[in-house]
Amino acid sequence: MNAPRCDKTEAWAALKGHFEAHGRDLDLREAFTRDPGRFDAFAVQAPEVFADLSKNLVDVATLHFLCDLARECRLEERRDAMLAGAPINATEGRPVLHTALRAPRGNGPHSQDVHGVLDAFLAYAEQVRDLARSGFTDVVNIGIGGSDLGPQMVVPALDAYVHRGLRFHFVSNVDGHDITAVLRGLDAKRTLFIVASKTFTTQETMANAHAARAWFAANGGTDTAHHFVGVTTNLKAAAEFGITTTFGFWDWVGGRYSMWSAIGLPVAIAIGAENFRALLAGAHAMDRHFAAAPLAQNLPILLGLLDVWYRNFHRFTSRSVAPYHQGLKRLPAYLQQLEMESNGKQVDMDGEAVPFGTSPVVWGEPGTNGQHAYFQMLHQGTDVIPVEFIAVKRAAHPLADQHTKLLANCLAQSQALMLGKSAEAAMAERAPTASASFDPAVLARHRTFTGNRPSTTLVLDALTPRSLGALIAMYEHRVFTSGALWGINSFDQWGVELGKALCNELLPRLASGDASGLDASTAGLLKKLRT
Ligand code: F6P
Repeated sequence: MNAPRCDKTEAWAALKGHFEAHGRDLDLREAFTRDPGRFDAFAVQAPEVFADLSKNLVDVATLHFLCDLARECRLEERRDAMLAGAPINATEGRPVLHTALRAPRGNGPHSQDVHGVLDAFLAYAEQVRDLARSGFTDVVNIGIGGSDLGPQMVVPALDAYVHRGLRFHFVSNVDGHDITAVLRGLDAKRTLFIVASKTFTTQETMANAHAARAWFAANGGTDTAHHFVGVTTNLKAAAEFGITTTFGFWDWVGGRYSMWSAIGLPVAIAIGAENFRALLAGAHAMDRHFAAAPLAQNLPILLGLLDVWYRNFHRFTSRSVAPYHQGLKRLPAYLQQLEMESNGKQVDMDGEAVPFGTSPVVWGEPGTNGQHAYFQMLHQGTDVIPVEFIAVKRAAHPLADQHTKLLANCLAQSQALMLGKSAEAAMAERAPTASASFDPAVLARHRTFTGNRPSTTLVLDALTPRSLGALIAMYEHRVFTSGALWGINSFDQWGVELGKALCNELLPRLASGDASGLDASTAGLLKKLRT
């Protein structure tokens, strides 16, 4: 599609002017004073997800210019092309159709194939959940990256829905400490291994799968066909490994977009077929919103536009994600792959180096834990880091008092980031832990917060399969939006190849000690690691 890159548009030039005139110095406190309706003006309701965008460094004109930018970059046509199955992953010659995985039966591309596999793996999941028949107590998912992070994030997030007779384990690292710790204490006769790998060639997964099979045999396991199941696009390799039960998916599903496919098998076993279908339905509802809502009310698009505004105009280099729900403890790790593997690119579709920043660093921890670790830097550090709070109105536990405290903390943090504290206010306060001999005026400067630090707060009513599906789909489409504007390919990952190839060259050298031809540092380290 002949769509311009963001920096080659008139809207980009207009945004630059707007940033210099009104954007750089926008003060959130003044903006709220000027406009008492600011909260409502910047509130967006998408399926299952409410967003308060009012604490972002934007005014109505900013969003107007950003929407112009999206139009000029033909974002909506690009979105429609993706949803229709055009081969938008041009460097790999593939369509990008994770949305087809959650379209209702009879809708969307490849529906028959998608629903055939979905029915099959959900039926299998139900068999496993029938513990009297299956005999399982433990499920071990062996996979890495997109074949691990989705299920590893969703299973604890939906803990309230998880089968109480089953324990779930995730092994990803080639580091043998990972699988050794998981296998310790497991009973081979009661353990199901899922070998999840799109390619079925990934070094880490294959090493762990072989280790699991050897452990299984050494611990009295006999029925490999019952205890090992495969999820892959490479059915032949799975069969060669000795796996007879395999669920497939397709090359038009990117690894980091694959939790909706059979890669979600551990999730389906954990929460059951009906809840898995609700997860898909929530994602589909967000897909419909992304496909149909006008730009100015389209939540994933607005978030993607904000990412461009912050990265390319304010030049913020990272975004912190703070889910105020312990179940979402793996969400930042999941988003790291989703965003940074998708948009960590330096050339556009034509191979031309982009003259602006692309993916921010995405990082975070659940609240309130992060508050007692790195929030100091968010409040008083020299870098401005937009924060994304995720609050869940209703808890799935009976400790109402603790949930109220959690929500108060969440609100307090975004408030503190925005309001800050002046030196005068600090001066007027008593600080019980401050040194009595320290100059009070200097102390007040240590206790000053500049404020005006931006944040977004996302609110879910409850963390359910449906709302989690919608939330994750929202993130996927947001990544698409910023990637499309930047003109990069969000769906390949060539950046992981070089390290893999060099590792294969170094492997025999670690065994033999041959350091000939290596750079001095690698040669020195090789020697150090062998002696
Ligand atoms: O890290 C590179 C990558 O290809 C990811 O994109 C993918 O999710 C992961 O490796 C695992 O790949 P596979 O599912 O083929 O084992």
